[in-house]
Amino acid sequence: MGENQQSVRMGFIGTGNIASAAVEGFCTSEADCSILVSPRNEVKSKGLESRFTQVRRARSNQEVLDGSEVVFLALRPAVARAELSSLRFREDHTVLSFIPVIPRAELENLVRPASRVFKVLPLPYVAKHLGLVPFLPPDESVARWLRPLAEPFPLENERELHLLWAITGLISPFFAQMEEVRNWCVAGGADPEHARRYTASMYACLAALAEGKAGTGFGELAREAATPGGLNEMALRMIEPGSTFRDLRQALDAILVRFGEPPVKP
Ligand SMILES: NC(=O)c1ccc[n+]([C@@H]2O[C@H](COP(=O)([O-])OP(=O)(O)OC[C@H]3O[C@@H](n4cnc5c(N)ncnc54)[C@H](OP(=O)(O)O)[C@@H]3O)[C@@H](O)[C@H]2O)c1
Repeated sequence: MGENQQSVRMGFIGTGNIASAAVEGFCTSEADCSILVSPRNEVKSKGLESRFTQVRRARSNQEVLDGSEVVFLALRPAVARAELSSLRFREDHTVLSFIPVIPRAELENLVRPASRVFKVLPLPYVAKHLGLVPFLPPDESVARWLRPLAEPFPLENERELHLLWAITGLISPFFAQMEEVRNWCVAGGADPEHARRYTASMYACLAALAEGKAGTGFGELAREAATPGGLNEMALRMIEPGSTFRDLRQALDAILVRFGEPPVKP
């Protein structure tokens, strides 16, 4: 791809959930790109081809590689090693891997002779151009390619990327907590849709508020909200000594270990 934002030829190996989100993000942005997707998953790759003029479904993974310069790896780890070893990469490929648990050093071996190899952490909301996209190592061209998707977030250190990646394992617990709160409201007699909407809106607004407060720890926000004798102070006093936060730390550590990293054990 040129340094002057000429059309980028992108390819996706593995057309599953996260690849579909990224393809949608690129195709609904200002990015000048053409996208080749691998034939699996058949329904998803055909769906993307019919939705977006920029997308073409290749007949094989090798055809994706042969027709692209920026290659996104969006395979599950269990199949990735075998599949990547069977493909012929070129020296001029830039490889952006969404696969968390394959270390960058190992990836470099798997995709030789390509030498520009990056790990990238998108989440499904990139389809809507939301959030940050951590990637490693920092690189101007990669940041420029990712920008149409969402805000690029360059990192230097692979353990740090893995620590942030571990947080993404809290998506299900996050929604499960919202469901618990909503169900409690509904069991008490609230209208289900009112409870759903208000819960989602409050969590979204609090997260937006926190994100805007650079340099402020979340603990400070928790203390600010805990008016002495108020509702929040009481709830925090009841929840903090229990197992909730310990369970959260243990889950994060268990995820981190799956990246081959030692646990934090704070
Ligand atoms: N989902 C996320 O939010 C997210 C975020 C960041 C990173 N990631 C990482 O991205 C990778 C993909 O995750 P995902 O959630 O998108 O999983 P997924 O929906 O299961 O997508 C993987 C896709 O790979 C296809 N596939 C399997 N074997 C293949 C092969 N040999 N050649 C080409 N395609 C093949 C599968 O096709 P079939 O359906 O036909 O089996 C499937 O559609 C994982 O490593 C995951 O950890 C995911």
